Amino acid sequence: MAPPPTTKCSFFSLFFFTFTFPCLILLFSTQATSTQQQRFKEAPKYYNSPTCGTLKPEPNHTCSEKAVHVAMTLDVAYLRGSMAAILSILQHTSCPENVMFHFVTAASKPSSAVTLNKTLTTTFPYLNFQMYPFEDDAVSRLISTSIRSALDTPLNYARTYLSTLLPHCVTTLVYLDSDLILVDDIAKLAATPLPGQAVLAAPEYCSANFSAYFTPSFWSNPSLSLTFATRRRPCYFNTGVMVIHLRRWRAGDYTTVIEEWMELQKRMRIYELGSLPPFLLVFAGRIAAVDHRWNQHGLGGDNFRGLCRELHPGPVSLLHWSGKGKPWARLDANRPCPLDALWAPYDLLHTRSTLQA
Ligand SMILES: *[C@@H]1O[C@H](CO)[C@@H](O)[C@H](O)[C@H]1NC(C)=O
Ligand SMILES: *[C@@H]1O[C@H](CO)[C@@H](O)[C@H](O)[C@H]1NC(C)=O
Ligand SMILES: *[C@@H]1O[C@H](CO)[C@@H](O)[C@H](O)[C@H]1NC(C)=O
Repeated sequence: MAPPPTTKCSFFSLFFFTFTFPCLILLFSTQATSTQQQRFKEAPKYYNSPTCGTLKPEPNHTCSEKAVHVAMTLDVAYLRGSMAAILSILQHTSCPENVMFHFVTAASKPSSAVTLNKTLTTTFPYLNFQMYPFEDDAVSRLISTSIRSALDTPLNYARTYLSTLLPHCVTTLVYLDSDLILVDDIAKLAATPLPGQAVLAAPEYCSANFSAYFTPSFWSNPSLSLTFATRRRPCYFNTGVMVIHLRRWRAGDYTTVIEEWMELQKRMRIYELGSLPPFLLVFAGRIAAVDHRWNQHGLGGDNFRGLCRELHPGPVSLLHWSGKGKPWARLDANRPCPLDALWAPYDLLHTRSTLQA
């Protein structure tokens, strides 16, 4: 673990505006490198309630049928969000020792995988997890630019490759983005029924204008616009919270099907967003519905300005800061949205004051 990024600039010197020039330089340099030097508090151990079965075989839970399998990506830029998400999952589940995390990291940055592993093990010493390097350079050739550059990072596409990254013994899992927190038991979400041949379950939003997710050149092309013809009404769903039946995904080779849409997108622009539209092309109108409480999304605001958003009406099990603004950034900038106060209690980052204490 790197030494704390604090310096001998005391808080008193900050308060009384007497800080000297070297002090200023240090402050700016700690801000510039803060993404590499984030330090997190150690989370407490969370215990199973008596009704939970124990996982076998010990100690490798990678394949346990009884475990709730959770897949997330892990990178330095969103680490603070991931840590809060993990904490929120452990806090609200009755069987925290039965949650198995599968973290996907960028293979192009092996040194950050080592750092991420260290940070995880020191922050959550009792966590069941595996890490998987994702060949992000290989997928970058398939990515076309979208309206928001953060959507174009290769790791954003890792959710398409979970079926090949994770061992085949994992049959279903919950995929989660890093900008969310749960306030309910993830085991309930993981237990969502996937009737028939459903590959995915996610909350559907049928009042969203589905046509708007694809370009006029998509809809005006007769063979492309027939994509949804044989399905029940296709509706928008957010790919940040999905229950995935990995065995059916593998059987249908949906990774290849999604890649084919991405290749088409490189030749003719059929959509404007990043990793979401190919999922809609393959699965919209074919997914199992999940109650909206499991993805109160859009709290980051729109993709352009990141304005504050309200919760959707109804109960809340999961809050998702999708969109441009992230709660940790707005809190740091002292310009939080009202709902960012719900994220703050899950923030494990050591602030300068906690480091000095
Ligand atoms: C646990 O088991 C899985 C599947 O058999 C294997 O891929 C993985 O490497 C094992 N992990 C450890 C830490 O032994
Ligand atoms: C993480 O670090 C621990 C301890 O240093 C090591 O035993 C483990 O294999 C590492 N895991 C991964 C996935 O790199
Ligand atoms: C839905 O979006 C399409 C494409 O952007 C637009 O042409 C259409 O008018 C919209 N429909 C409604 C009901 O807003």
